[in-house]
Amino acid sequence: MSDPNGLVYYRGRYHLFYQHNPEANVPGKMSWGHASSSDLVRWTEHPVAIAHEDGEDVYSGSVVVDHRNSSDFGVGNEPPLVAVYTSAYSDGRQAQSLAYSTDAGMTWTKYLGNPVLDRASNSFRDPKVSWYQTVDGSGYWLMVAVEADARQVVFHRSDDLKRWTYLSTFGPIGATEGLWECPDVFALPVDGDPNQIRWVLIVSLDPGRATVGTSTHYFVGDFDGIGFTAASPDEVQRLDWGRDLYAAVGFDNVTHGRRIVIGWMSNWNYAASVPTFPWRGSMSLPRELSLATIEGAVMLVQQPPVELSALDQVADRFSLTAFDLDSIRPIEGGRQYRVDVTFEPVNADEVGLDLFVGGGQTTRLSYDVRAERLTLDRTRSGETDFEASFASIDSAQVALRDGALQLQVFVDRTSVEVFAQGGLVSLTEQVFAANDSAGLAIFSLGGLTRVKAFEWTPLGETNAAVSVPFANRSEPASIEDR
Ligand code: FRU
Repeated sequence: MSDPNGLVYYRGRYHLFYQHNPEANVPGKMSWGHASSSDLVRWTEHPVAIAHEDGEDVYSGSVVVDHRNSSDFGVGNEPPLVAVYTSAYSDGRQAQSLAYSTDAGMTWTKYLGNPVLDRASNSFRDPKVSWYQTVDGSGYWLMVAVEADARQVVFHRSDDLKRWTYLSTFGPIGATEGLWECPDVFALPVDGDPNQIRWVLIVSLDPGRATVGTSTHYFVGDFDGIGFTAASPDEVQRLDWGRDLYAAVGFDNVTHGRRIVIGWMSNWNYAASVPTFPWRGSMSLPRELSLATIEGAVMLVQQPPVELSALDQVADRFSLTAFDLDSIRPIEGGRQYRVDVTFEPVNADEVGLDLFVGGGQTTRLSYDVRAERLTLDRTRSGETDFEASFASIDSAQVALRDGALQLQVFVDRTSVEVFAQGGLVSLTEQVFAANDSAGLAIFSLGGLTRVKAFEWTPLGETNAAVSVPFANRSEPASIEDR
């Protein structure tokens, strides 16, 4: 799997479609795979939802619930679900197409009038559609998509999802190389104040293979029904500071104004060569977004949704009461757990956690107290040599708050997701450690640290026995162009 597609909540289920090759674990024959969940935690896999056909791949896109049956695809009183995806034709052209479901997302029919929006472009893709409500109570369908090669987001509107009118273009901004992909746009209150609404435009950037690779970014600004204006156009923010969060977009139709995104946990630099078998590619944890004012700037904050606590193996959880630390202290490890820890450095240079420890391997999450930088080092994490840019050291600026650094770290069999200072900074990376490299240690180097709180919670039902994720290695056959 690669990009999440068509994230939508409908009739008590979250649907997660995704870029998927039904025939191999490398990109090709791109289709929409499908899984659904009632709680964002336990997912059920379904048959391929929208399939590739000869001459036409089904690239990324979105799903909306057409409550008013504006598309006329509905049957009876049941609103149709409408998927808007990119038809990537074998002659290179990319245009937007529709498919619809009248059975709550389980089966899909391609619209005979496809494509519905064609700009005679070879890099017009990744439509994300949502309902834009105007002040007079009416509204229209709003589509954000990219002209990927031009590094632009293009806005279109429609009343029936079939006929689209051009509204505006945003970008290019920043880098002069590479691609823009998988946009999303939505409004959120700032600091929880419903009278202070700002718009967020998410864009995934692919700067090219000679770089650290692909990552998800965002702009904060305003949308007036036609165009998006960034508050500080030169300042594109990173959604995540690790190497493995791409194409992150949000669920449509979620109740209570919740904005929940999921990203693809990989990087185009090595997506087709990570050492897993038979699966390849996975999604990040869902993240619930909010906007907060941090030192005068409005920033996205990401938090794992409360539903995730369903995975907590509470009986086996353990906590340590506040203690002083001036060395490396091994503690309970595992391969599926969460650590919640708060460090108050006294005179230490560096504090942090060693993850996936064993047999000479370690993945170090460390915080440089003076530089206020949080770093994830996976150069000694296990299998790293399948692609040159995988053995990485990535870092983000994280200010101490009242002298403290708070970390929430989710460790899964082949991944680490770090949320620092309540989700102000996140860092997501894949790690391919040996199966028994399951140690965990907490450290304070160069001086003393007060560990104010420490809690270790095993996750899932199978924490004790870890299955081997890449026991039967196979080499990728061929890597088709995406
Ligand atoms: C992003 C992307 C999209 C495209 C899809 C094809 O990862 O390149 O732009 O729609 O993947 O699989």
